[in-house]
Amino acid sequence: MNAFPALATPAILVDRDRLDANIADMQRHCSAHGVELRPHLKTHKMVEVARRQLAAGAAGLTCAKLGEAEAMLPASPRSLFVAHSLADPGQAARVAALTERVADFRVAVTSEAHAPALERVAAAAGRRLAVMLAVDTGLGREGVRDLAAAQRLAAMLARSRHLELRGFYTHEGNFYGIPPAQQRAKVIELIARLAGVRDAIDRTLPIWPGCSVSAKLIAENSAGRVQAVRPGAYMFGDLFLSEVTGVMPASAVAVQVLATVVDKPEPGLALIDAGSKTFSSDRTGDNIHAKAVDGRDLAVVRVNEEHGYVRGTAVDSLRVGERVAFMPAHICPVINLTDEVTVTAGDQIVATWRVEARGKTR
Ligand SMILES: Cc1ncc(COP(=O)(O)O)c(C=O)c1O
Repeated sequence: MNAFPALATPAILVDRDRLDANIADMQRHCSAHGVELRPHLKTHKMVEVARRQLAAGAAGLTCAKLGEAEAMLPASPRSLFVAHSLADPGQAARVAALTERVADFRVAVTSEAHAPALERVAAAAGRRLAVMLAVDTGLGREGVRDLAAAQRLAAMLARSRHLELRGFYTHEGNFYGIPPAQQRAKVIELIARLAGVRDAIDRTLPIWPGCSVSAKLIAENSAGRVQAVRPGAYMFGDLFLSEVTGVMPASAVAVQVLATVVDKPEPGLALIDAGSKTFSSDRTGDNIHAKAVDGRDLAVVRVNEEHGYVRGTAVDSLRVGERVAFMPAHICPVINLTDEVTVTAGDQIVATWRVEARGKTR
């Protein structure tokens, strides 16, 4: 590994070639099956990455918050979906501005309880908003729980002055807990359920499921029923995608956290300068926050704010001052905790990209 000695650590490294390969690979897969790709930008939060996704053929972008949408305007998305339950009329001016800037701007309507609040936001914005109706398919978060609720919500929308039903979506985050061998069967069930709701309400409308675990399988099994997928983490990858769910090889993961060994306080333990303020507190089911990418048995097993506790059979061979690159358990919070990433190509540093939507939680 090139330890980039001139770089201060902890540093977030993005391998440009792997990033571009992952973007191209997902796009090819979706296009081959006639499914649009509408990546969720909450993982990368960077205009430069959004530009690359759109240039590769993405039909639009997805985000959670208005602040993320605003931060991505320099990438000039033609279509943008805010997949979150907007409920504050105080956001109306920003919603109105986004409808002016983005040709196809959509927001989520997530239940019968949510619809009146969204109606107030749209009324305050003085706009008729295109809405995607959320269907829960197992995560138990937003979305109607059954077909009857979907039909009642669709009927509310049909009477609405400010909201226009334009499609259906689901976020199947529960797929991260589905063993790889069962993913295909679960995808087939998921498509049937979401398409079933759509077909019962309006066969002409699109359905947009698809996270990083399920997106490729959904495209492959779509048979013309699915119009778009919205994966977020696929172009970077992490331990969840490479090890836990097995949807990408470790060799394709495009982001590493470069850290320095700062102490070896006792045999079998090394401390690094990256803790929860770099990795977040997220960890895999076996309580691992990160693993060394060079194949040595070195795992971050505990984090304090500015310390990572590294254990494993290779720990005692580490030197204080040595740099080690780690693959984090979950990439999304890692990016949200950094102002910028260092972009590499081979052994060279080729750019620094700002994380423009970092911390845009409003
Ligand atoms: C609504 C929605 N769509 C898409 C995604 C993308 O999921 P992933 O990062 O697993 O691809 C998320 C992730 O949280 C989400 O909440």
